[in-house]
Amino acid sequence: MDKKNKKKIWVMNSIFALFCGGILVFLLNAPEETTSFLPKDEDHIKLYSIEGKKEAEKFCAECHDADKIAPLPEGHPPKYRCLFCHKRN
Ligand code: HEC
Ligand code: HEC
Repeated sequence: MDKKNKKKIWVMNSIFALFCGGILVFLLNAPEETTSFLPKDEDHIKLYSIEGKKEAEKFCAECHDADKIAPLPEGHPPKYRCLFCHKRN
């Protein structure tokens, strides 16, 4: 391999390394999770004792459907599987 080619490979490798470093920094800077957790108040505490997420989610609509006491805010993301986003803590 001639000298010129070696240098080219070194340059390409350096660019690749910088690129990987950039992605790593980007990922490490990702914002913290901001979606609200399932509250631990009177309305929700019993939902913590239900083992399966799917089972617990059956109750959400009792209060969070459009015509109930706490309807979802306008522009709420697709609401399929509440507890995947609003985690229990
Ligand atoms: C018995 C009624 C009731 C049930 C059942 C219920 N909620 Fe709620 N929820 C409320 C009410 C009322 C509020 C608003 C007042 C508050 O923050 O507690 C609320 C607020 C919330 C909030 C907002 C918390 C915040 O930080 O602003 C989230 C998230 C939520 N509920 C998720 C759920 C999920 C997920 C389920 C099902 C697993 C569920 N709720 C079941 C009544 C209920
Ligand atoms: C794909 C993720 C996702 C799913 C699934 C989801 N939510 Fe949300 N929810 C959000 C986000 C994000 C917000 C905050 C919206 C904003 O700040 O504008 C929110 C907001 C809310 C709020 C208003 C209070 C708050 O914290 O801002 C309630 C109540 C709520 N969600 C209940 C539910 C219920 C009940 C379900 C299931 C029927 C559900 N969510 C499913 C992501 C989700």
